[in-house]
Amino acid sequence: MAILPILEAPDPRLRTISSPVAAIDDDLQRLIDDMFETMYDAPGIGLAAIQVGVPKRVLVIDLQEPESDEEDAPPVKKPLVFINPEILEGSDDLSVYNEGCLSVPDQFAEVERPASIRASWMDRDGRIHEERLEGLLATCLQHEMDHLQGVLFIDHLSRLKRDMLMKKLNKARKAA
Ligand code: NI
Repeated sequence: MAILPILEAPDPRLRTISSPVAAIDDDLQRLIDDMFETMYDAPGIGLAAIQVGVPKRVLVIDLQEPESDEEDAPPVKKPLVFINPEILEGSDDLSVYNEGCLSVPDQFAEVERPASIRASWMDRDGRIHEERLEGLLATCLQHEMDHLQGVLFIDHLSRLKRDMLMKKLNKARKAA
């Protein structure tokens, strides 16, 4: 396994529209393993293949949520793989989440999206899933699926907010 470099905005490769995966082969399994290692190392809760420069419709998510509501309950790993995901339906009711992105490091902004979705996808064993998702998982999947279309969460903001956020990002880079 390997930690891969993550592309950062405004890298034009992040604007690529990713292609469907045709076969779940050893190369794809290796890519998925590397994507998990890269995501856990960052750390983040979601990563699309294009963020490591591979224009394929693959993404990994692990919300790493604690198993119980107790205050110091440790986070539990629950790795999820989405191959060729589709959103079949989005709810009319929306939810707002303060989103961030490993390709827009350390910048956060509120984005409004359907609160629940019905989605289909293939997992790494080639099994097809169709499920209704809600909460953070619904938000995260929509965010990651945007990446497959070359869309970043900052594209959902007003131009003013987006420009401010990119200025902050550039300033932080210069200071680093
Ligand atoms: Ni992202």
